[in-house]
Amino acid sequence: MVLAWFFCFGLVLVPAIAQSWATIPFSTQSLPIALRSPYLNSWLSQGKSTPFASNTWWPVFWTTSPPAQVMAWYVAIRVDGVMYNILGGDSLPHVANQTAAIITPTQTTFTLRAGLVNVNATFLSPIEPTDLVRQSMPFTYLYIDVNSADGQFHSVQLYSDISAEWLSGDRTMICNWTANINSDFISLQTQLQSPIPFAEIGEQALDTTAYLSMSKQASTTWQIGGNNRGVFNKSGILLGTQENNFRGISDSFPTFGIAVDLGNITQTSSPSVWLLGLLRDPVVQYTNGDGNKEMRSSYFWSQYATPLAAISFLLNDSSRVLDAGNAVDAKVRGDAQKISSPYADMVTMAARQAMSAIDITIKKESSGNWNTSDVKAFLKNMGSVGGPGVNSVDVLYSAFPAYLYFNPAIAGYLLSPLLEFQNSKQYALPYAAHDLGLAYPNATGNSNPHSEGIEQSANMLIMTLAHAQFTGDGTLISNYYTLLRNWADYLVNNALSPGAQTTSDGLTTANQTNLAIKGIIGIAAMAKMSTFAGDSTAATHYQTISSKYETQWRALSFLPNTSHLLSGYGSQSSSGLMYNLYSDKLLQLNVVPNSVYDAQTTFYSQNSNGTTSSPYGLAIDSSTPDKSRTDWMMLAASTASNTATRDALVLQIHNFVTAGVTSNSFPLMYSPTSANAAGGPGSPGQGAMFSMLIMNQSLKTPTVSPNTIPAAPHKKKVNVGAVVGGIIGGFVALAVVGFMAWLFRGRRQQVLSEKRNHSFEVDLDGEQRPVGFQLYPPDTADSSAVTFPYPLSPSSAGNIPAHSDYAGVPQGSEVGTNESRGSEYYGVRIKSGNDIGPSVSEVGTSESRGSEYYPVRIKSGSDIGPSVSEVGASTVPSDVSSTASRTHLMAPATQVLMAKQTLLNEELRTEVDNLRREMERIRSEREQGLDGLDDAPPSYGELS
Ligand SMILES: *[C@@H]1O[C@H](CO)[C@@H](O)[C@H](O)[C@H]1NC(C)=O
Ligand SMILES: *[C@@H]1O[C@H](CO)[C@@H](O)[C@H](O)[C@H]1NC(C)=O
Ligand SMILES: *[C@@H]1O[C@H](CO)[C@@H](O)[C@H](O)[C@H]1NC(C)=O
Ligand SMILES: *[C@@H]1O[C@H](CO)[C@@H](O)[C@H](O)[C@H]1NC(C)=O
Ligand SMILES: *[C@@H]1O[C@H](CO)[C@@H](O)[C@H](O)[C@H]1NC(C)=O
Repeated sequence: MVLAWFFCFGLVLVPAIAQSWATIPFSTQSLPIALRSPYLNSWLSQGKSTPFASNTWWPVFWTTSPPAQVMAWYVAIRVDGVMYNILGGDSLPHVANQTAAIITPTQTTFTLRAGLVNVNATFLSPIEPTDLVRQSMPFTYLYIDVNSADGQFHSVQLYSDISAEWLSGDRTMICNWTANINSDFISLQTQLQSPIPFAEIGEQALDTTAYLSMSKQASTTWQIGGNNRGVFNKSGILLGTQENNFRGISDSFPTFGIAVDLGNITQTSSPSVWLLGLLRDPVVQYTNGDGNKEMRSSYFWSQYATPLAAISFLLNDSSRVLDAGNAVDAKVRGDAQKISSPYADMVTMAARQAMSAIDITIKKESSGNWNTSDVKAFLKNMGSVGGPGVNSVDVLYSAFPAYLYFNPAIAGYLLSPLLEFQNSKQYALPYAAHDLGLAYPNATGNSNPHSEGIEQSANMLIMTLAHAQFTGDGTLISNYYTLLRNWADYLVNNALSPGAQTTSDGLTTANQTNLAIKGIIGIAAMAKMSTFAGDSTAATHYQTISSKYETQWRALSFLPNTSHLLSGYGSQSSSGLMYNLYSDKLLQLNVVPNSVYDAQTTFYSQNSNGTTSSPYGLAIDSSTPDKSRTDWMMLAASTASNTATRDALVLQIHNFVTAGVTSNSFPLMYSPTSANAAGGPGSPGQGAMFSMLIMNQSLKTPTVSPNTIPAAPHKKKVNVGAVVGGIIGGFVALAVVGFMAWLFRGRRQQVLSEKRNHSFEVDLDGEQRPVGFQLYPPDTADSSAVTFPYPLSPSSAGNIPAHSDYAGVPQGSEVGTNESRGSEYYGVRIKSGNDIGPSVSEVGTSESRGSEYYPVRIKSGSDIGPSVSEVGASTVPSDVSSTASRTHLMAPATQVLMAKQTLLNEELRTEVDNLRREMERIRSEREQGLDGLDDAPPSYGELS
């Protein structure tokens, strides 16, 4: 792999010089070099071999794993006529001896000795969290200072170049270039001759323009070509020329070099500064709440009309940037040092990683003016833990502490597009989406059903509350109150009995304790938001349920004869990292009693004292002993009741980072036994390292005025007699049938007219409900059943009481929609509002085209409802099936035992059959040529 990097650049390996040097204050897997955006993101691999930056190594793209993509950024110094490498493995010159690498939250500095001068080369990726103009500028700085080692004058020239490897993962693509020689600065730019907007190869964007720039002094020279380094080697002065044969990136590697001759000096009075930028515009295409595609640009365009204007500003800003970087470093490390030194090291590693994964954007109004009050941020899920995707919700949840720490408003900019899209007609799932689009930078929405409904819905509620309480800004709660409540209702119906639902870890064990508690905390978060909204009925409702569920949850997972939480209900030998308790502490919700935290703390301490076989961490779950994650380790550590245990867990993460086993860019997933990386290089999820810095804050009370408060939940009185059972599968089947019937009323008018006045009841008392599918008897004896109007419609479903007593029973918005408890259910979508049935792609998948679709689930296998093959629902979207964590989509909830369906209306069975045939007919019609509705992608011209 290492050799491959060199051959990439057509260079020979320089033999390593055995010389000791240190990385200060800690050694790490990979050193951040330029981390400023998802695409301006390069690292210098370290690992065990710890070569000099100046020796054999090229910076590589964050992806790390083969084929490693070199991002050639080359730096050299010429001292008394002899040229030395500072960064990059060019074989031409000598190697400067590296004496240290120093890591801070914003900077990586190499200190070197080249001949008789000392050199400091500082790569600074600014973190300017409260200045959206600066924060959104994808530019990074290199500062070089030199002083004489022997007190004598030495003749010194400095040189830096980039190749066009920043432009594409396919290095045969043709690039072109321009030299911008201004009166006060030089900027060399290169781009693909045929850029492709929003597209990637090897995770690299294909629509970037790279700029290497420097302020102009009398002695500044430049050159574009294949042999700049040779020219510099000879004379220390470049020719001010460019080759004119535009060519492939790796075809005699055109390089873009700028040099400065410092003359005979004993030291530099101020550093020489290079500026590297990688610009795209627009940066994201986003499908907004109206279903329109918005072209979103980096925020800074509101201030600068051209790239060169921005570059000029940034070059003049360079000494302030260095001061600001030093101030951020001092603040972050100072805050973290109060926890511990190892902890400070972990936030040091995570800072640039979390901040560089996002683009902060605005859009142009039709007037042509930038709308800076509509700020949206987008996160590229680098490392792909939890699947790829834009603003991947579970990874955003991990990363959130960093944004809350640096500037909680950014947390809101990241939530805003997720909420807007899911609040629109384009999204019909009753639970929160996994992400906002399958591949960055296409935030075009993702309505695919998935098996992380509890995980993602709770994440959204927790993050929305966190944003509001850290900023005091209640706008998101006001704007999306109903949506948030829908998700809370989903949790009310599902969280206590997660069944086969998964977390982002893809664990498949049933009824995961850690997942259930996240859902229960999510409900408590909703109670808080309802309180802020002045909706006291709902607040009491959710608060009551949350605490009731917590009691039930504890009864299922925290058994008297065990010392810790089981990781699966009733699974006596199971244990795990209960990282989801973190949000209870963060938001000070007090859902879970301290006795549980204390027990977990003791349990963690017994397993993290260095004497076990897992020196680098605890397994996420006892069923996966070789799998851990830094984010979950840190969140778990944050919940420890004593500092000794907290520190021991942090030290394990630190051990992993410093073990030198992997050279990946601070990976998220790893083996706690071997410290091998298991995935997630470059993941923004490392923002979780900041979790301890945002705890015990005095939380703000946001001002919330909901645009709409849904009608308070109410109980309907029982209408005794028609259907008996207490059998949820049967109930759902009825609901589904009713719902489908209603949707197809245009076609089925006659049939339905006879049934309009029917009503059904479900007896909630009766048999024992097995663990994992508990029903809670009503408070009062006379309301032992609940009535559901028939036929079901979205509006009538919405009126069905959501009540804690009927946990496990599909309720409220869930009726006729999503209920997946019990046996096998399969999602189908049925189009409403007109008489056309679901199209091929719509049936059984996630496609939501055009008008309103309502997902419904249909039980298969048994004597009710159509089976999967009958409905054609077995077609799982390819993106879903390809992702390990989602392979359990709609899998049977194995732990859940279903009682027998005892009564089913024959008429309704017939109705299902009719509907099924209808759907088949429409499907075959569609297959015969009505497909192909995809819009053609916009041309580049349309975009600019
Ligand atoms: C690097 O260190 C070695 C060993 O001390 C020495 O021989 C060599 O000259 C040094 N190189 C430079 C560029 O200073
Ligand atoms: C390099 O940085 C170190 C640590 O900040 C400092 O002590 C040293 O003087 C610097 N050297 C140069 C050449 O500026
Ligand atoms: C480089 O290619 C881009 C995209 O095709 C084009 O807009 C630009 O004018 C080209 N630049 C030069 C110097 O040819
Ligand atoms: C994003 O969508 C465009 C079409 O608009 C497509 O060309 C591009 O490949 C997509 N990008 C990714 C990363 O999938
Ligand atoms: C700089 O130093 C070199 C020797 O290192 C000497 O040859 C040269 O004349 C000096 N130049 C100036 C401008 O002092």
